[in-house]
Amino acid sequence: MHLIHTITELRSWRQEVKRVALVPTMGNLHEGHLSLVRTAKAHAHAVVVSIFVNRIQFGVGEDFDRYPRTLEQDVKKLTAAGADVVFAPAESELYPNGMQRYFVEPPAIQNELCGRSRPGHFRGVATVVTKLFNIVQPDVACFGKKDYQQLAVIKGMVQDLNMNIEIIPVEIERAETGLALSSRNGYLTEDERAQAAQLSACLRNMAKAIEAGNRDFAALENDAVMYLQQHGWQVDYIEVRQAQTLTKAQISDNHLVIVAAAVLGNTRLIDNIEVCFS
Ligand code: PAJ
Repeated sequence: MHLIHTITELRSWRQEVKRVALVPTMGNLHEGHLSLVRTAKAHAHAVVVSIFVNRIQFGVGEDFDRYPRTLEQDVKKLTAAGADVVFAPAESELYPNGMQRYFVEPPAIQNELCGRSRPGHFRGVATVVTKLFNIVQPDVACFGKKDYQQLAVIKGMVQDLNMNIEIIPVEIERAETGLALSSRNGYLTEDERAQAAQLSACLRNMAKAIEAGNRDFAALENDAVMYLQQHGWQVDYIEVRQAQTLTKAQISDNHLVIVAAAVLGNTRLIDNIEVCFS
């Protein structure tokens, strides 16, 4: 396993390898990230995992400063998981002089759902992912369905900007309680962690209701919001959307996703569940 910090060294390693898969991350790795690495291994000769906490995708007052940076443990986990390269550039390597003058601007979807409370977030994600794509030049890249809107933005970007990279979506890894694994779960107290499973439980109940034929999406959304609020959550959104486009769900749609973001204590959690039926 090579630990690489500079673009020059990464590029010279890249020249020797035929088919490369990239797994972009911000580190503090858990089983969710490692499942991306395992998927990536099945699609290429070598796997690059990038670890970079990307300042430009964090808003003012968000957790950029306290985001956990655990490179040493991450490298151990990735060595065990069989990654070939960890690319962990310093901020000055990706943003020399703290500067980024050109940005990748996603379309209107960047202002909906998570984008409503995190203006500029998806522009920051699309920009850094483009930079990583240009540096690593992967043939495939793996993204988790945990960040469903992010995955949709990246898929759209690759298609619209003719990037010759196959995007591979990977299923959500969950704790036994149903809580989706996330680096941010580390912010939860023990009690909050137990309670956090309410979010995925709510989504499962909504999915069951839809599968059973309920198409009153607004009522299902309202009930879920009320339930979570009564249990001390601050709900950002819970919405039923069309899975491919993330546009508003229509009664005739047969591939839906229920997406949610809510705050428990000081921690903002996101989750989603797909609903497919014929
Ligand atoms: P990060 O939050 O570290 O996530 C890296 C990748 O791991 C993303 O594709 C995310 O969807 C996936 N992931 C996280 N938790 C998961 C889980 N429980 N199951 C499956 N996959 C999971 O997402 C980012 O970093 C950044 O925005 C990034 C794309 C690296 C750009 O900075």
